Amino acid sequence: MNNKSLWNYIINKGHILPSPLANRLGIPVLRTILANLIIRIRRFKNCRPQNDYENTLIKDGIVVIPDFLPEEEFSQLKKEIYEGISDQKEVIVANNGSSQATLYPFSKDRYKNFPAIQNFVKNKKLIRLIAAAEGMKVFNEISSFRFEKTIFGNPKADTDNNIPFHADVHFHSHKVLFYLSNVTEDEGPFGYCLKSHKNDFDRLWFEFKRGQLKDSHKNSWRIEDHLDNKFFKNYFQKLMNMKYKVVGKPNTLIIANVHGFHQRGEALEGASRSLIRIPYRYNPLGPQKELSPDMYSGSLF
Ligand SMILES: [Fe+2]
Repeated sequence: MNNKSLWNYIINKGHILPSPLANRLGIPVLRTILANLIIRIRRFKNCRPQNDYENTLIKDGIVVIPDFLPEEEFSQLKKEIYEGISDQKEVIVANNGSSQATLYPFSKDRYKNFPAIQNFVKNKKLIRLIAAAEGMKVFNEISSFRFEKTIFGNPKADTDNNIPFHADVHFHSHKVLFYLSNVTEDEGPFGYCLKSHKNDFDRLWFEFKRGQLKDSHKNSWRIEDHLDNKFFKNYFQKLMNMKYKVVGKPNTLIIANVHGFHQRGEALEGASRSLIRIPYRYNPLGPQKELSPDMYSGSLF
């Protein structure tokens, strides 16, 4: 491996490095330590957490805020979203096993005539949460988001690889999910293992041990495929002890650090779920330095 390809491995934004050798050498651990340090400095310099919600997000890796918008504002927002998608041509249909998600990207020019959407993307509470979590300077408005509607199929045929617990990336990066429909245990609630985003000794040791496995370089790697190994079984058990299923009414806002372990919860056949998603990827080591959300990357969870 020459210097250039080693660097490419280091700046790769996925959780999984594609090289078995890099994994065995513990490069993922070094990469995580470095990224963690940069993000801590970035937070200190750009936006320190101030209120309870911001502190909870940094401490637990997730914060859930029910009744996020005033009732009237929320119903207006919902109305405008449905108006906005009625003539939208830029629709993406994603099939995940037996489930189907329809995704509607909203960019700045798309919502300029919708006052409630304008208010939402300029919501100071939301912007501060994102800025404190990602370590960005507080910005004026969110430049894009996505509305998505998922209709769940037969759970036995649901091959969605987001159902088993996983971490998306090697650094602190966040997803905002804003429930527009009621999400119960049966409607694919977001699942999160509290505090699993922390790069403490346990997590770094886990990453090192993971790197020693034969399939460590595969993107589809999931801890649940390694429960025959005592170390991974114990680690998984600890994660499950901290599991939090986010059920919530419409108007529930979730922001989660997806360096921590999470899942798309299971759902009943025929159940549906609508939400607004804003995924952020502000890679401390990679070339991607823009502050806008990363609309098209990543999974449905
Ligand atoms: Fe994920």
